[in-house]
Amino acid sequence: MVNLTFMRVLITGGKGLLGNSLLKTSPSNRDIVWTYFKNPPQTNVPNAVYMDLSNEHTIENVFSNFIPDWVIHTAGNGNVDWCEKNKEEAYRINVEGTENIVFACKQYKAKIMYISSNAVFDGNNPPYKETDLATPVNFYGHTKIICEHIVKAFIEDSVIVRPILMYGWDSEGERSNPVTWLIKALREHKTVKMVEDIYVNPLYVDDCAHGIWKIVESGKNGIYNFAGNECMSRYEMALQTAEVWGLDKFLIEPVKNAYFKDIAPRPFNTCYDTTKMEKNLGIKPRSFKEGLLLMKKEME
Ligand SMILES: NC(=O)c1ccc[n+]([C@@H]2O[C@H](COP(=O)([O-])OP(=O)(O)OC[C@H]3O[C@@H](n4cnc5c(N)ncnc54)[C@H](OP(=O)(O)O)[C@@H]3O)[C@@H](O)[C@H]2O)c1
Repeated sequence: MVNLTFMRVLITGGKGLLGNSLLKTSPSNRDIVWTYFKNPPQTNVPNAVYMDLSNEHTIENVFSNFIPDWVIHTAGNGNVDWCEKNKEEAYRINVEGTENIVFACKQYKAKIMYISSNAVFDGNNPPYKETDLATPVNFYGHTKIICEHIVKAFIEDSVIVRPILMYGWDSEGERSNPVTWLIKALREHKTVKMVEDIYVNPLYVDDCAHGIWKIVESGKNGIYNFAGNECMSRYEMALQTAEVWGLDKFLIEPVKNAYFKDIAPRPFNTCYDTTKMEKNLGIKPRSFKEGLLLMKKEME
């Protein structure tokens, strides 16, 4: 049984979109260490450590120095098209890297929360519950479901969180997300093509982080699908983003997913049923517009 007062939490990928939000929203009574890979902190931060998922020695170094009670494993490559084109490397980082983390958790008796994805679903039978069959349509989704199996097989009482598409402010040097990417493009007066036949219920990253901390605090186990409360297309997301930021909507052109020939297959509609997250954790999912307004407030 983990002592809640002195809980030591390791966050892999602390500069990523979710990792950074976890650090921002962390309860004050937690001892936290976070890892970086290619994007080190600008200034000397005592609780940030280098770790390469593909290098067991760096993982061993982090675990033996910190001895975590909990590991929130967010690090990995979440670029769907990159994973499709670089399968071997994607497997090495996402699957073998997670395997390395799982073995270290086993050795050091740490609880693990693995961050999976809506990409484990094929998008043909929404809304998706935690218990629905996972049959991914792209390689990234395959890596995520293999990791879920590894985590469940090796660690008793593990947690798997499957965030849907997340948005929020990204840290310097990290990849953009659909909202920050669009704001930049529209500010530069670029025309953008947005798909009107891919649906998700977008999730404000801080809401995902709050939900994760609730799970950690409560000691619950199992699988959780995390999402916002509106199922919408990427085109609708773009229109709302432009409206909230006062940018030119006429630069946004709706297209079908088939328009993009050279990309990985995408599941068409992975909108979630959020009943478990609401009932089990008491989280009220937020609308996309509410999340955008929070982002705007944060910027101001
Ligand atoms: N963003 C979404 O919409 C979304 C949706 C569903 C699921 N997810 C999943 O949620 C998790 C977090 O996503 P995110 O968008 O927050 O990630 P992200 O912004 O892309 O950040 C990825 C993090 O992983 C680290 N990393 C990458 N390769 C590594 C390696 N070989 N060794 C060690 N660290 C490595 C990066 O460190 P450096 O920057 O220092 O290199 C970075 O901190 C991922 O597992 C992703 O698959 C994301």
